[in-house]
Amino acid sequence: MAVNVQKQRKLSDYKLSSEQGRLAVERGLADAKWYLPPVPREKMQELLQRRDWPALRDTMLWFALLFGSGIAGLALWGTPWAIIPFAIYGVIYASTSDSRWHESSHGTPFKTDWMNDALYEIASFMVLRESVVWRWSHARHHSDTIIVGRDPEIGRQRPFSLFGLALKFFNIPAFFKYFESIARHALGRVTAEERLFIPESEFGKLFARARIYLAIYAGVVALAIGIGSILPLMFIGLPNLYGAWLMVVYGLTQHAGLAEDVLDHRLNTRTVLMNPINRYLYWNMGYHIEHHMFPMVPYYNLPKLHELIKPYMPPVYNGLIEAYREIIPTLLRVAKDPNYYLIRPVPPAPSQSHTPQTSTLITSDAAPDAEGWVNVCDLVQLLPGEVLRFEHRGNVYAVYRTQIGQLFASDGKCTHGNAYLADGFLEGACIECPKHNGRFDIRTGAVLRAPPRVALKTYLAREHNGQIQIKLG
Ligand code: FES
Repeated sequence: MAVNVQKQRKLSDYKLSSEQGRLAVERGLADAKWYLPPVPREKMQELLQRRDWPALRDTMLWFALLFGSGIAGLALWGTPWAIIPFAIYGVIYASTSDSRWHESSHGTPFKTDWMNDALYEIASFMVLRESVVWRWSHARHHSDTIIVGRDPEIGRQRPFSLFGLALKFFNIPAFFKYFESIARHALGRVTAEERLFIPESEFGKLFARARIYLAIYAGVVALAIGIGSILPLMFIGLPNLYGAWLMVVYGLTQHAGLAEDVLDHRLNTRTVLMNPINRYLYWNMGYHIEHHMFPMVPYYNLPKLHELIKPYMPPVYNGLIEAYREIIPTLLRVAKDPNYYLIRPVPPAPSQSHTPQTSTLITSDAAPDAEGWVNVCDLVQLLPGEVLRFEHRGNVYAVYRTQIGQLFASDGKCTHGNAYLADGFLEGACIECPKHNGRFDIRTGAVLRAPPRVALKTYLAREHNGQIQIKLG
């Protein structure tokens, strides 16, 4: 069904400093509660498990494709046959790095976190995204997906021209904007817009990375000049012009032509079932609604998540061709009428609750004892490896029992945003926030993974007379 109800947009509305951004906050669209389908707790715990092997296997194959096509391109350089390996190399380098960048930014593909960080830095460089800037912009994209004036990653800003869209297939003007941006950051300058979503404590890292990127590009250009050939640039630099087209083909399926300013990913995001080759190249990001709803689920578990929540989802698209049968006419129309967007049919939702029914909630008004201890629940209500939400006299806490049976407690809301930690993923002594994958050490409250920057407040917890207690005094 198509409707025509949105206010006429201006490109300036999309700036984070715009009046539209202020209005979004006023209207409760910022860091808001989104629709989530119910998922049985034990099923979700299974889906959240990370393993190193699937991502390691896929990444080794990815590098093999990259190096294999690169070496073939080098061997055939100077002949017309070089076009074939470079066409493959360019797509692997500049298009498929997008989904590797994306997944590793969430810290979910690998169980071993340094591997996520290493892949993130490499893929960020390849896809022309400054790793610091985009780590923060992507956190905002997940809080405020396609909320105008709040989401810095809205790809199809209205109005847009078809010519401008066509240029994106060659990564223009993003290519030139990137070099302007790294040059500015290398000089130690940030824009007012960037200050709205990048914490100042990250600026040092941002400037250092920009200088490294510039040094690499300067080295490649110097080498090209030195040997009198563009060959070095065919490997680093030019792939982002000649090989970025597949990133756009995949990327348009995510949100193009769908609603803005809604709090339901089923209305502003698409899930496209792809063939095995595209699923590999895109790292299952075709399951995009599922990813936005549950960003803690690693890419290799998204098909299982899709099966679980299918009854709550709008109809899926069976392949890219089916998706583009809708996307192309929609974009043609939006180009003429920026007010136009599609409303996707969604089944009646049995629950609009923010809590995805994956955590146990216990409420109590009981007064603490003389030493400040408060009963939370019976021992059996908190099994090893579980976390529950405890609401006491208007405050929210998270109470944890690790796999080895130790009890811990902390404030129940993430220090970064509007999310209950009890909906997160507990592994060892680390709790991962369900919203942007921020991580905390539950023993000390220390931040283990951004975007949170403020430590959690922790409390003593114990077993006492068959009860779990926390000390709030
Ligand atoms: S709300 Fe952002 S990491 Fe928790």
